[in-house]
Amino acid sequence: MAQPQTNPTPSSSQLDHVAQAVRDLLHQPDYDDGSAGPVLVRLAWHSAGTYDAASKTGGSNGAGMRYEKEGGDPANAGLQHARAFLELIKKKFSWITYADLWTVAAVVAIKEMGGPEIRWRGGRTDFTDDNKIPPRGRLPDGAQGADHIRHIFYRMGFNDQEIVALSGAHNLGRCHSDRSGFEGKWVNNPTRFSNTYFKLLLVNDWKKKTLENGVEQYVYVDEDMIEEDEDAEDAEEPEELMMLPTDIALIQDPSFRPWVELYAEHKDIFFDHFAKVFAKLLELGIKRDRNGNIVNEENQQDGYKSAPKKSDVATAPRDQNKGQLGHEAKPLQEENEKMRRRKEGAKL
Ligand code: HEM
Repeated sequence: MAQPQTNPTPSSSQLDHVAQAVRDLLHQPDYDDGSAGPVLVRLAWHSAGTYDAASKTGGSNGAGMRYEKEGGDPANAGLQHARAFLELIKKKFSWITYADLWTVAAVVAIKEMGGPEIRWRGGRTDFTDDNKIPPRGRLPDGAQGADHIRHIFYRMGFNDQEIVALSGAHNLGRCHSDRSGFEGKWVNNPTRFSNTYFKLLLVNDWKKKTLENGVEQYVYVDEDMIEEDEDAEDAEEPEELMMLPTDIALIQDPSFRPWVELYAEHKDIFFDHFAKVFAKLLELGIKRDRNGNIVNEENQQDGYKSAPKKSDVATAPRDQNKGQLGHEAKPLQEENEKMRRRKEGAKL
């Protein structure tokens, strides 16, 4: 097996090249809503969101999702697509660590999708084994309510305002029934970063719906749009928008709600708060000295150690057969097959 490479921390001009490569990769007409951006953002969030402030374990160092122990957490279902997109960049810039690549890619993607500039600092290293990977089950479950959200995010060291600001990322992307069990997008334009998610949370009349797989989520269908559409020939039914139970908790909880209202009304304040809290998220589990150098044990021991490149294809973790909802394995496998075929025919 190839040994990890030890390199100096990347320079800003090296990083500029990586950032450009991420921008070049975002447009993916055959994937979801045409952009790799949202799933890249989710990858960065899940790579950092395992942090536990009390034990100082988890967080964005190490890129633990390369290992079954973390990659196979049902909460991470589907993120192999994000990792496969980024393999193309890793191939070109082998010096970068996965832990840096996954986090910087999200920052570049958010900016490119119209979001704020987010401060990103590099220097994360890649674990060389899975010893430091925290137990599974540290990421939030969308079927729960405000208590659960607080339990998860307070553990990482966030407060109520920061929780609501971070949740604004659900302006991007969508839920996939074969990944989380939930289905649909939060906003009509899910590849454009804005505060629409907060506006829709407040203005729409969200109705509980039980999906065919038994999962409960909230939906909204714009009746006026349907009527207009019925008049048009060969009109496609408008896709209903959705919210997770955890999203709805943000407007039901008296301490979360004022932040939703503020961000719905003031996009600039949301962008400012989001930029700060997302930067904080990406630093979870990272200890730096006064000069900004990372002084985590593994960094001090091994330096900036970039793991050898993995395979180009999106490979589902092996033991993901007991998914969050107990049914990811087969659809995931099928999706991976599709992805592989697409890769063979066309460039990813
Ligand atoms: C209570 C907290 C949260 C819960 C329960 C939650 C849950 C979920 C679920 C169930 C999905 C759908 C996954 C799929 O089926 O593909 C999703 C997608 C997503 N989440 Fe969250 N999430 C939370 C917080 C966050 C945060 C803090 C961020 C980033 C700052 C984030 C960013 C995203 C993005 C960008 C997507 C779309 C991914 C895609 O399009 O593939 N989420 N989330």
